[in-house]
Amino acid sequence: MPKRYKDIVGDGGSNIAAQVSEQQARLRSRLADVRTIIAVVSGKGGVGKSSLTANLAASWALQGRRVGVLDADLNGPTMATMLGVRGRRLVVGADGVIPPEGALGVRVMSMDLLLPSDDAPLVWQAPTQAESHTWRGAMEANALREFLADTAWGALDVLVLDLPPGTDRVVTVASIVPALSGTVVVTIPSDVSHLVVRKSITVAAQTRAPVLGLVENMAGLFPGSSSAELARDAGIPFLGAVPFDPALAAAADLGEPLVASAPTSDTARAVLDIASAVADAVSAASARPGPARPT
Ligand SMILES: Nc1ncnc2c1ncn2[C@@H]1O[C@H](COP(=O)(O)OP(=O)(O)OP(=O)(O)O)[C@@H](O)[C@H]1O
Ligand SMILES: [Mg+2]
Repeated sequence: MPKRYKDIVGDGGSNIAAQVSEQQARLRSRLADVRTIIAVVSGKGGVGKSSLTANLAASWALQGRRVGVLDADLNGPTMATMLGVRGRRLVVGADGVIPPEGALGVRVMSMDLLLPSDDAPLVWQAPTQAESHTWRGAMEANALREFLADTAWGALDVLVLDLPPGTDRVVTVASIVPALSGTVVVTIPSDVSHLVVRKSITVAAQTRAPVLGLVENMAGLFPGSSSAELARDAGIPFLGAVPFDPALAAAADLGEPLVASAPTSDTARAVLDIASAVADAVSAASARPGPARPT
């Protein structure tokens, strides 16, 4: 017989509350050596969150920072490919799983490194198929928490989280990562994308983490609305625009972000400027008196 909530209340022998708080404590001590944690988010799919994550990570590594990337997209992981560690065998050290180093020494952890390299999707185990959908959100949150807590990140200047599409995803991540330094929202210059991303900004602003700003990706691909205007209307900084550039897509497929393979190209320069703008926004946000953060 599966346990019901009544069996669990008052413990019921599972001690679930203690398990979660133990895990949360482990997570906190694990992330104690990580100075800045940034989530790249967008309610809209396919706008370039992952491409931007890989290139921002490479930009900060080029600027001499120690960088890690957590692929928080458990069902559509792409970070291992984009940063060139796909197929790498994971090594378990005394202190947890050691994230392999990809382009420019960026440390990467992704579901892609844990699953066998076939086409099987991630399937959540549940007594029935219907239940597996009901519980998906909770199971994903748990998996993410474990992922962060079980990885031996070491000392990092910045950890970048690549989120899956979906307006609500940022809320889950903000609740798991108590010290989230901020969110970077990504859009493309289309009304359809702006419609969804406007909601993402509202939701991101409701979390404890500051919204660092908006990035327009695939600029110039088609005549669309101004993303700078969207940022202004929403009252958040506009961090810059990344041009539509097939070279950026090709570099990602080859496992070396454009910023690493062609750092002097116009597109790479645009990303490097955005990386600096994000870093400045983090410093500005941490200097502002804000809501008390758990220590
Ligand atoms: N500036 C750009 N110029 C050209 N191609 C791009 C650019 N940005 C992203 N792409 C390409 O667009 C596709 C989608 O990008 P990406 O996977 O980064 O988006 P995403 O927002 O992470 O998607 P998902 O919502 O599925 O996670 C990829 O093939 C990528 O190489
Ligand atoms: Mg993605």
